[in-house]
Amino acid sequence: MGGMYPAEFECEARLIDGRCVQVRPLNFDEYDRLEDLYNRSTEESLRKRFGWTDARAWLRSIKGCVTTGNLCLVAEYLNAQGKLEIIGDCWYFKDLNTGSAEVSILVRDDFQNMTLGTQMMRKLVEIAKSEGLYRLFALVNVNNTPMLRIVQRLEFNFVHGADGVNLYRLDL
Ligand SMILES: CC(C)(COP(=O)(O)OP(=O)(O)OC[C@H]1O[C@@H](n2cnc3c(N)ncnc32)[C@H](O)[C@@H]1OP(=O)(O)O)[C@@H](O)C(=O)NCCC(=O)NCCS
Repeated sequence: MGGMYPAEFECEARLIDGRCVQVRPLNFDEYDRLEDLYNRSTEESLRKRFGWTDARAWLRSIKGCVTTGNLCLVAEYLNAQGKLEIIGDCWYFKDLNTGSAEVSILVRDDFQNMTLGTQMMRKLVEIAKSEGLYRLFALVNVNNTPMLRIVQRLEFNFVHGADGVNLYRLDL
């Protein structure tokens, strides 16, 4: 994402234990901060999110080819030492030909199951709608219960499944 920072997309998310985190678009000059999120995520979570692709290599590749129209929301948490940590990212990647986009998300393991993933995805969907996207896709492993719960809650529709991966679609 380049150009002006869209401050209107910022919001707060409250976790089930009462802590508040800020959810906001990632600035185009902040990509390196995602490395810390990936370094502090378990291999299992990274595998679910990136498959066999190396997360840091993916990050380097995305930095060079960021196009307008894509969005990355991050969740930022002020830790006990007063330092801001990125604890989740949630993306849509727009297909410029069709106006649809694929979504992906990662919440740091020590912040999972606290409703953050649902809140970030809800915000992403809201922004996608306001930006004129007409359809979102999510590819979800059939064993990924937390992500399946999220796509169901956000009322994505099942399209088809193959090799243990289901494709879901949300028309906006
Ligand atoms: C998927 C992910 C983003 C969800 O984020 P999260 O903040 O933990 O999600 P939430 O807390 O909003 O919701 C998780 C849901 O899964 C449920 N859940 C979690 N673990 C579960 C389990 N083992 N069995 C059944 N349900 C489970 C939770 O109860 C919750 O559902 P509910 O609110 O209906 O009870 C997070 O787990 C993650 O980053 N995983 C690794 C990367 C990944 O899988 N990305 C998605 C690739 S498409």
